[in-house]
Amino acid sequence: MKALCFGSMNIDKIYSVDHFVSEGETIPCETLNTAAGGKGLNQAVALSRAGVDTYMAGCIGPEDAILMDTLEANNVNTENVVVGDDFISGHAIIQIDKRGQNSILVFRGANLKVTEQQVIDTISKFSEGDYLLLQNEILMNKLIIDEAKEAGMIVVLNPSPVDKKIYELDFNKVDYLIMNELEKQQLDDHLNDYPELKIVLTLGDKGSVYMDMDNTIKQEAYSVDAVDTTGAGDTFTGYFIAGIMQGRSVKDSMDLASRASSIACTKLGAAKSIPELR
Ligand code: RIB
Repeated sequence: MKALCFGSMNIDKIYSVDHFVSEGETIPCETLNTAAGGKGLNQAVALSRAGVDTYMAGCIGPEDAILMDTLEANNVNTENVVVGDDFISGHAIIQIDKRGQNSILVFRGANLKVTEQQVIDTISKFSEGDYLLLQNEILMNKLIIDEAKEAGMIVVLNPSPVDKKIYELDFNKVDYLIMNELEKQQLDDHLNDYPELKIVLTLGDKGSVYMDMDNTIKQEAYSVDAVDTTGAGDTFTGYFIAGIMQGRSVKDSMDLASRASSIACTKLGAAKSIPELR
């Protein structure tokens, strides 16, 4: 059984600041770290570090070895990553404040270059029972879901960041929807139409909740001194699905995901802060 993460790859430029810059304000910053990120890449790294056979698909530019290097160093298969000569990789400008909270501006760049052909070619390499993880930082999600369902894949959607494209998706074809509180509020009206969805709601330091037609399962968060919460949700998503793929119960998968995401908050950076399951 394989997992395909079809999604964004970004170069994260991480600025440590006293407070987030406000309208009309200029603030100095002495610390800049550059690291691999993007919700797609982060979730692929989390799956792989949790022991899943993981494939990444998406688009990047030619000049940024950090994205390919990070995937390869984490044993993520990159044969479905398209490097376009005229693409510019996506990047994110991330402010981290003293509490470890973040504020993120994303330039989507090459993440908008996914084509129909890339979707069809990629999904044709997967089959029944394989998992697809999607976020909302690339185009073509509707086609990706249609093709994946046709192939018998299990579809996991993290609808982040929510925008109007999400409403084009047929949630009848989504098996797991993993999101935070704000995203749930944004989607609430839409969700009433899909009572059979399995929903995982992440609540930051208040833990997480799993809900389906028959069960509601609560998981507490593990308390840590947060340095940087960037990528904690991606770590949770990757680890939760890894747990399910590896045959753990929902409760055990939530516990595993909660432990992994709390560890990810103790280090700076998105992908590089994701722990390895031993
Ligand atoms: O979820 C965190 C990620 O969101 C960052 O790595 C950044 O690249 C943005 O895509």
